[in-house]
Amino acid sequence: MLTGKVVLVAGGAGLLGKEFVQTILKNNGIALIGDRPSPNSEKFAYEMIETYGKNRVCFFPLDICSKDSLHEIIDKSEKNYGRISAVVNSAYPRNKNYGRVFEKVDFSDFNENISMHLGGYFLTAQIFSEYFKKKGGGNLVFISSIYGFLAPRFEVYEGCTFTMPVEYSVIKAGIIQLAKYMAKYYKGFNIRVNCLSPGGIFDGQNEKFLEKYNSLGLSKGMLDKSDLNGTLVYLLSDASAFLNGQNIVLDDGFSL
Ligand SMILES: NC(=O)c1ccc[n+]([C@@H]2O[C@H](COP(=O)([O-])OP(=O)(O)OC[C@H]3O[C@@H](n4cnc5c(N)ncnc54)[C@H](O)[C@@H]3O)[C@@H](O)[C@H]2O)c1
Repeated sequence: MLTGKVVLVAGGAGLLGKEFVQTILKNNGIALIGDRPSPNSEKFAYEMIETYGKNRVCFFPLDICSKDSLHEIIDKSEKNYGRISAVVNSAYPRNKNYGRVFEKVDFSDFNENISMHLGGYFLTAQIFSEYFKKKGGGNLVFISSIYGFLAPRFEVYEGCTFTMPVEYSVIKAGIIQLAKYMAKYYKGFNIRVNCLSPGGIFDGQNEKFLEKYNSLGLSKGMLDKSDLNGTLVYLLSDASAFLNGQNIVLDDGFSL
């Protein structure tokens, strides 16, 4: 379903990013992996290139808060592939103090995390929408979260060493609104901007947390990363040609 689509996955070497890259490749698209250089991202890129070849996949060092790295991806991809059709932003920047409970969040950490994550999604979207304008159109998919529109279910986190950080809720709400704003702002330019908001994704969480989380799901509870693939393909394909400014919630009904 993605033949002819050249898709940049920002945060493409993360838990969800890797899955998205492989889904794009399995559906005949070209995948550009954009992530911070690290042994993990380089190993993943190497494996993908080994499997699919250099014509179908490549790695770009990316910081979603750096204009230079974003422009470099556009310039190099134009030369190598002739275009970028879509961007999936699945990056998850956070600073070293991220994840504290509400009253322990320093003002400076709050601001820094908003800037790195929401600011980075804004910058990436701004640079790519201007590029898409020149190209006659394009497609932006932001990965938000159920916690971008839902009050945290703190009861699920009771007794856990982690919480649902306030910055996360604020950032993800901002991302959903950024998509709506941009979809409308670019009226007439053939630019689509949508969000995919997953619920929790299984990543080895402890049994107690899973039990509480799963009790709020309708048939499965915590989803596997592969459960997002069908919706991602839909968002990137022409099947969703007139879907614009929307937030697709994929959470097994957890948020109901
Ligand atoms: N995992 C979940 O349960 C879940 C649920 C809902 C939403 N989400 C959202 O999905 C997205 C991906 O989450 P994940 O679980 O894969 O996270 P992850 O931490 O596994 O991966 C995020 C990736 O982003 C990269 N990254 C961080 N800062 C960056 C920057 N400045 N520029 C470019 N890349 C950067 C990291 O190197 C990493 O590879 C996030 O936006 C997250 O909020 C995740």
